Amino acid sequence: MSDKIEIPMPTSASSAPLIDPFAREISYLRVSVTDRCDFRCVYCMAEDMTFLPKADVLTLEELARLCNAFVDMGVRKLRLTGGEPLVRRNIMWLIRELGKRLNGGGLDELTLTTNGSQLAKYADQLFAAGVRRVNVSIDTLDPDRFRAITRWGRLEQVMSGLEAADRAGLAVKINAVALKGVNEDELADMLQWCGDRGYDMTVIEVMPMGDIGGENRVDQYLPLSMVRSKLAERFTLTDIPYMTGGPARYMRVEETDGRLGFITPLTHNFCESCNRVRLTCTGTLYMCLGQDDAADLRAPLRASETNLPLADAIREAISRKPKGHDFIIDRRRPRAPVARHMSVTGG
Ligand code: 5AD
Ligand code: SF4
Repeated sequence: MSDKIEIPMPTSASSAPLIDPFAREISYLRVSVTDRCDFRCVYCMAEDMTFLPKADVLTLEELARLCNAFVDMGVRKLRLTGGEPLVRRNIMWLIRELGKRLNGGGLDELTLTTNGSQLAKYADQLFAAGVRRVNVSIDTLDPDRFRAITRWGRLEQVMSGLEAADRAGLAVKINAVALKGVNEDELADMLQWCGDRGYDMTVIEVMPMGDIGGENRVDQYLPLSMVRSKLAERFTLTDIPYMTGGPARYMRVEETDGRLGFITPLTHNFCESCNRVRLTCTGTLYMCLGQDDAADLRAPLRASETNLPLADAIREAISRKPKGHDFIIDRRRPRAPVARHMSVTGG
């Protein structure tokens, strides 16, 4: 035995798990890699969006360093979002970097939420990098409606993306936002279509995030309790305890043997089991989707080549994670109570 004094490695700051004040272990990081998008969905963006100046956006190397620091601190699931993650230049470099943490490197899952427009090009590369599942946002299967909802999107392009994803071996989940008077008559057909193709489906209640110019969310809001009773006329829905680490509640659809998830931030409080935080492409960490409190991680990231200031800043931020959100869609106050757009924090 050597008589040298063991100097403890400074791992307490960088590798102890992240536990928030309500004893929730933070194991899921969602990263918005860009606020830009090639679509302009009516509930998400105004048509003439102003995007962040490129100089404010973290480089891919910086994003990789940040994500790696979170994985070192116990994050086991990473989801890349946007805007549209696949429109960021050289995004596959980042995905391949992060994919190196799979299979024993600390990360259990690397996924992304995409609008599908670039999937035809990237599906094979995503699978090769270790991605096994993608969430694809599609609110309608009607080409004209698709154009009306996304303003700039083409359904046909997304469909080729889905075929590429199937061929590559990626599991697909379809995310559809329930929009009153827009796609509510179609959700049952979409559920059947998902079942036929072997996709799970999640229906999302519209959330009051960001000014969308002209449109009014009170008009768009469709409570999922109504969607459920409508779907139950045609399908047998059985609640199941399936957990993905996300906020959705799941049902089995007996007729298709597929799964149906509901994300109901407004009518149901899912905060008590919240295990996630959200990072923007400028290095701002949001501890809750529905609150404005945030922590800047870009300054500590750039302050040192070691990750110690960064790890301290992350821990300090987690110690402020609030108990829950307080979204309301109020008829007397139709403006967005959360000022930032979904494309900033990526849902
Ligand atoms: N409310 C609900 N869902 C939204 N999305 C974007 N903006 C909103 C909103 N205001 C959805 C997208 C995508 C997911 C990331 O979030 O359609 O499915
Ligand atoms: Fe783009 Fe998704 Fe927003 Fe539509 S919802 S504009 S696809 S980020």
